Amino acid sequence: MQRVSHTHGSTVETRIPPVRAELVREPLNVLQSWQASRQNLLNIIPEASTRQPIVSGRTGTRWHMVTDPAAIRCVLLENVDNYPKSIVTKNLLRPAIGDSLFIAEGKHWRWQRRTAAPAFSHRNVAALAPVMTRAADRSADRIAQAGNRAVNMLDEMITATFDVISDVTFSGDTGFDRAAVHKAIDLYIAEAGKVSLFDVLGLPDWIPRPGRTLATNGMGDMKAAADRVIDARQASGHHDIPDLLDLLLEGEDPKTGRRMSTEEIRDNLLTFIVAGHETTALTLAWSLYLCAFDQDVQNRARAEAQNVLHGRAATADDLAKLPYIRQIIDEALRLYPPAAIVSRTALAQDTLCGTQIHAGDTVILPIYALHRSHLLWDDPDQFNPDRWADGAKPDRYAYLPFGDGPRICIGASFALQEAVIILATLLGRFRFTSVKGVDPDPVMIITLRPERGVWLEAEAL
Ligand code: HEM
Repeated sequence: MQRVSHTHGSTVETRIPPVRAELVREPLNVLQSWQASRQNLLNIIPEASTRQPIVSGRTGTRWHMVTDPAAIRCVLLENVDNYPKSIVTKNLLRPAIGDSLFIAEGKHWRWQRRTAAPAFSHRNVAALAPVMTRAADRSADRIAQAGNRAVNMLDEMITATFDVISDVTFSGDTGFDRAAVHKAIDLYIAEAGKVSLFDVLGLPDWIPRPGRTLATNGMGDMKAAADRVIDARQASGHHDIPDLLDLLLEGEDPKTGRRMSTEEIRDNLLTFIVAGHETTALTLAWSLYLCAFDQDVQNRARAEAQNVLHGRAATADDLAKLPYIRQIIDEALRLYPPAAIVSRTALAQDTLCGTQIHAGDTVILPIYALHRSHLLWDDPDQFNPDRWADGAKPDRYAYLPFGDGPRICIGASFALQEAVIILATLLGRFRFTSVKGVDPDPVMIITLRPERGVWLEAEAL
């Protein structure tokens, strides 16, 4: 990983950073943006966004890419009512997840958030840890079975996190075909991804959008199956340890006493599946890629995991004793934030970093560029878990893998707990090395994915 380069006769040691996306250096016209975004949404982020607080342009609609922490605080917190999620994002997701927590605005969002929040309290999330521990164990078994063959850890982590989320939403319920649900959601997201590429920048409406007729067929059956499960659970009463379905069934808005209908519960559970499993899988896949990229980091992490776990799978009680594993995850979320671009539409005029924002402008928070800003981070492209040592915290609005303000990810602590449990378990049991010549490419289609997968050899210890 170390490379020695020679400049002007002197020898300077430079470190090759882990894989990164090429950001654009020239302004793009409408057609070029369209072409670039078809391949990779990251291709629309100007390199300048890593060096200046705001970059504005017009590609059909006026847009602004904001990487200034104070201005981002304004968009997500202080002036949040002026910056609802872009209409396109909502139209895109509504057929799959209804007017649920992720999409709703105003009053309808507020009561759902109040009702769902207790389900994600520290106590409830900790109580769900055994599900994560079992999924980590099963994942380790599958990897061990692969023997000497390289494993695509992206696929493996998607399986593991789907295991978790389906267990904490529709756990132990018969008549619910998990594989079919997984397939319907993946298909939908793949289709939706094609549409979003056209829409994030607010390209003009006359550009045809081939993905408009979304694959919603599989969704109908799935929703009906989910409704049956919810009704059956309501009749049978909850599990010993309540899962997310139980908690939503029992939840009520502390302000109005309103409870969610079967349909509202179903849409929110599907939202948790859509918003929660792939994002967490990506965090894990990128963390494993980084551990294979830097064997010193991996060795240190393994020593920590083995010291605490002695070969068993991690549990909620171990979390506080695994700080270095957590640092790796924080750093992976910095370098490869699954939600690499967050987009809003301005309702009324405003000023951000001295730039006039007009009503209707698209305000983009390119989290990928924010996390690699030369104004905010030392050696931003380098993988260095030690920047998080001893609880070091950057400026709150310089690091936003989960967003912030009232719309901050409701599942953040759930995801972090799951990621630490799975990563620690796997590092305690295997030594991972990358397969030469198949480095992943960071490509954003809705989420930031390692294209070609993360192929690793896993040596059982
Ligand atoms: C590492 C994993 C995850 C990442 C990186 C992530 C990221 C995010 C981000 C950036 C947002 C804000 C989007 C915006 O403001 O436009 C968000 C919202 C949300 N996330 Fe997550 N998420 C993760 C895991 C989860 C999990 C595990 C769940 C549920 C089990 C979840 C459920 C949600 C929901 C429901 C919202 C909408 C909240 C609201 O608007 O009130 N996420 N997530």
